[in-house]
Amino acid sequence: MGLGLLLCAGVAWDNFADGVDVTVPDPRSVPTLTTSPSPETLAQGRYLLQAGNCIACHTARGGTPMAGGRGIETPFGSVYSSNLTPDPETGIGQWSSAHFWRALHHGRSRDGHLLTPAFPYNHTTLISRSEADAMFAWLQSLPPVVNQPPVHSLHWPLGTQPALAVWRTLYFKAGSYQAKAGQTAEWNRGAYLVQGLGHCAACHSTRNALGASGAVDDLTGGLMPVVNWTAPSLTDNAQTGLAQAPLGEIQTLLKTGQSGQHYTSGPMAEVVQYSTQYLNAPDLRAMAIYLQSQAIPSTFAAATALASGVPKATEQRAISLETANRGSAIYDKQCAQCHGDQGQGQIGAYPALAGQRGVLQSDTTNLVQTLLYGGYPPATSGNPRPYGMPPFILTLDDKDIAAVLTHLRSQWGNHAREVTPLEVNRIRASQGS
Ligand code: HEC
Ligand code: HEC
Ligand code: HEC
Repeated sequence: MGLGLLLCAGVAWDNFADGVDVTVPDPRSVPTLTTSPSPETLAQGRYLLQAGNCIACHTARGGTPMAGGRGIETPFGSVYSSNLTPDPETGIGQWSSAHFWRALHHGRSRDGHLLTPAFPYNHTTLISRSEADAMFAWLQSLPPVVNQPPVHSLHWPLGTQPALAVWRTLYFKAGSYQAKAGQTAEWNRGAYLVQGLGHCAACHSTRNALGASGAVDDLTGGLMPVVNWTAPSLTDNAQTGLAQAPLGEIQTLLKTGQSGQHYTSGPMAEVVQYSTQYLNAPDLRAMAIYLQSQAIPSTFAAATALASGVPKATEQRAISLETANRGSAIYDKQCAQCHGDQGQGQIGAYPALAGQRGVLQSDTTNLVQTLLYGGYPPATSGNPRPYGMPPFILTLDDKDIAAVLTHLRSQWGNHAREVTPLEVNRIRASQGS
């Protein structure tokens, strides 16, 4: 009993004693009465909201930008992003910059209630006050839009304040970015962007049973729940080749979603389309430097980028003649016109499949997703209308898809293990449930 009270007191202290005084009038909160924010501040605010992918998450499909209401599916139910336009009733028109700062830094709303961590505030807590203020200034300059987002539908008791308080005590700690001594200013800027605004670990780390992602600098990769895409480990060079890629190539990948014959796809294509394509060259370079420093060259895992595709001795099995013939017939009929007779692709249009890292991964989740649902590389200013890959969910069955993927993984110098119909079925069955 006594211990219970003490725990409750601890949880309450942990969550509500954040030291942000939102009651004192904040001169920055009434910009129109004092000085209006400069055009530079507004431009910086907009830039930061793009860099943080805030705009994509706070805009419903077909809705007004920043008016919220976009549904985010989690394993625990759906949550809806908030309206961040300055409408006084349904948006943040009555907020001060201190309220906004507290939301980013402590995950609490204007009235003090705890926000759900679908809003990645474990990352936004690292954003500096001046950057938060610039974002707030730009948001306040938008036309107000009346839009009340739907009520969250999280499984009881997960969305309740006590449950959130306990969750936060376990997994959330407000903080600020601490520059690492011995690293350059560029490296530190990159780390700040990746860990804070960019919230890369929200996808590139494994979520636990309570939905908490890894630490802000945990980039060891993970399966994204519900959408079923694997975000590769950015620290394992065999999965991304970041350790030896020239910095310019990493920048190009984040800027255009494409580097040589390689394209980002699925959820990463969206990150590029809505966020990283807007980053300026110094910020992209800083991110590339930081990412490269985190990528561990695969010295033991065989020093080739294809290491993870090489089957372990125990996995090695001869591919049956039936599977081989089926796979090659489907390839010639359905795929070769775009990807080429020898899987060589077509520069600027279709990715090569020969020697393609994504084709050789031991985790085949993303390959199966691409075959079932097709996809588009990101639309960027450099490539506004990219060619797409058609979906094959209606025309190829599990056995066909397994066979054609096995074909890709065993031709043109590719050596990766066979894909089974079961692996295809697991993803086909998980969708739309
Ligand atoms: C993955 C989607 C996602 C991203 C990315 C995201 N948000 Fe949100 N945000 C949400 C959701 C969902 C909520 C609602 C949380 C709740 O009601 O518990 C929210 C709530 C907020 C709130 C609190 C609003 C209120 O009425 O209490 C603020 C402020 C906010 N976000 C700002 C930002 C900013 C700034 C960024 C970019 C740095 C950002 N968000 C990025 C999903 C996101
Ligand atoms: C919404 C989830 C999500 C977020 C946020 C995210 N990623 Fe990704 N990322 C993925 C997925 C899924 C893939 C695998 C698909 C692919 O390779 O394009 C991926 C792939 C990558 C790759 C490998 C690309 C390739 O094709 O070789 C890099 C590099 C990368 N991400 C960097 C980042 C960085 C840097 C950030 C933060 C700015 C980030 N990601 C944020 C989901 C995400
Ligand atoms: C109309 C042209 C077209 C056809 C036909 C086509 N693809 Fe694609 N394919 C693309 C494009 C464009 C992409 C890039 C999509 C993306 O980034 O999401 C792609 C991506 C892929 C990838 C992902 C490569 C990577 O980088 O990891 C694989 C695997 C793939 N296709 C296999 C196939 C197979 C197998 C078939 C036949 C069953 C096929 N494609 C038919 C255009 C095509």
